[in-house]
Amino acid sequence: MTDGDVIRLVDLATQSQGIKEDVLAAISDVIDSAGFILGKEVGLFEEEFAAYCRTRFGVGLASGTEALHLALRALDIGPGDEVITAGNSFAATALAIRYAGATPVFVDVDPEDFNIDVGLIEEAITPRTRAILPVHLYGQTARMDAISDIAARHQLRIIEDAAQAHGAEFSGRRAGSFGDAGCFSFYPGKNLGAFGDGGAVVTNDEAVRERLILLRNYGQRVKNEHTLLGFNCRLDTLQAAVLLIKLRYLEEWTEQRRTIARWYGESLRDAELILPAERADARHVYHLFVVRHPERDRLAGHLRNRGIHCGVHYPHPLSHAVPFRNVRTVPEGLPVCTQLASEIVSLPMYPELSRSQVERVADAVRSFDTVGVPS
Ligand SMILES: Cc1ncc(COP(=O)(O)O)c(C=O)c1O
Repeated sequence: MTDGDVIRLVDLATQSQGIKEDVLAAISDVIDSAGFILGKEVGLFEEEFAAYCRTRFGVGLASGTEALHLALRALDIGPGDEVITAGNSFAATALAIRYAGATPVFVDVDPEDFNIDVGLIEEAITPRTRAILPVHLYGQTARMDAISDIAARHQLRIIEDAAQAHGAEFSGRRAGSFGDAGCFSFYPGKNLGAFGDGGAVVTNDEAVRERLILLRNYGQRVKNEHTLLGFNCRLDTLQAAVLLIKLRYLEEWTEQRRTIARWYGESLRDAELILPAERADARHVYHLFVVRHPERDRLAGHLRNRGIHCGVHYPHPLSHAVPFRNVRTVPEGLPVCTQLASEIVSLPMYPELSRSQVERVADAVRSFDTVGVPS
């Protein structure tokens, strides 16, 4: 098999080639302006990205992890406070809660959409709970109506982890626009990815924006006047310049992801696996296309032998990671997260994937149905 026959989980090179000339010109402008830190492209991108999310403000930050960390600090959440989140995210979600000095509490998830089970959230609330931090996993929003109701009833803040959900919608509203802060990652493989690390918080709350602007820049508004414990967490001007170009294509790329998901749905309709469920109230942006199969590891091996690369997002519930071993889980042991972790597999998904590549993946999956499961 030649390298050209391999279907990768994500292919960043093809997309980058298509915009390379525009990006080089934008980088050249930044070099000429020498505005490498908080240059004009950062402000422009913040405005355009906030508008895209249908929020009032955007603040560019160094990564998605720092977006979560600084959003928590901007809302004054820290030591002694508990933050309720899903038990099946990327570790950064829970690490950020720890960086802020707060304690995560992991709640089990809905097996249909992989997102926090809103029926369990109230069980997790204690007098120390300050916030709910839903993760819009794989590109589909959590049930934000129920989460907003619970937060209002218990006077809790909402911080959305929208790192995988640029442009996702719930009841026509965009991910990131429901809570006190919506946190995004621009890690290269994300639906909107920089050419390096990057992140942002979007918010409708001017006070949150003001705090974030201080927090990302050593706590100073005026040089050498530090009014709080700040960090060095700014979005690079060069990355903002890249993101401004890519943002123009985001809707087109998102629609392409949705088309590919439909192709997979058609081609795998009769295959022996569980396809992702797109809720009627949601616009899923398919950051990942995650299916379930009881023989996940053997299926992934079968596909790899046929040149098809898959991923597992994520192989363990968060409570298995060393920094979170003592974290409270609701219910104890996260049974759904635990079962999903052994069954999920992410099939190749990126906007440039062709119909014939999708057919090749589907054929390979179907050939496992006939040869794969031991008697
Ligand atoms: C759900 C989720 N949260 C947070 C992050 C952290 O983002 P970053 O890698 O930009 O720090 C990621 C991605 O890496 C993610 O997928």
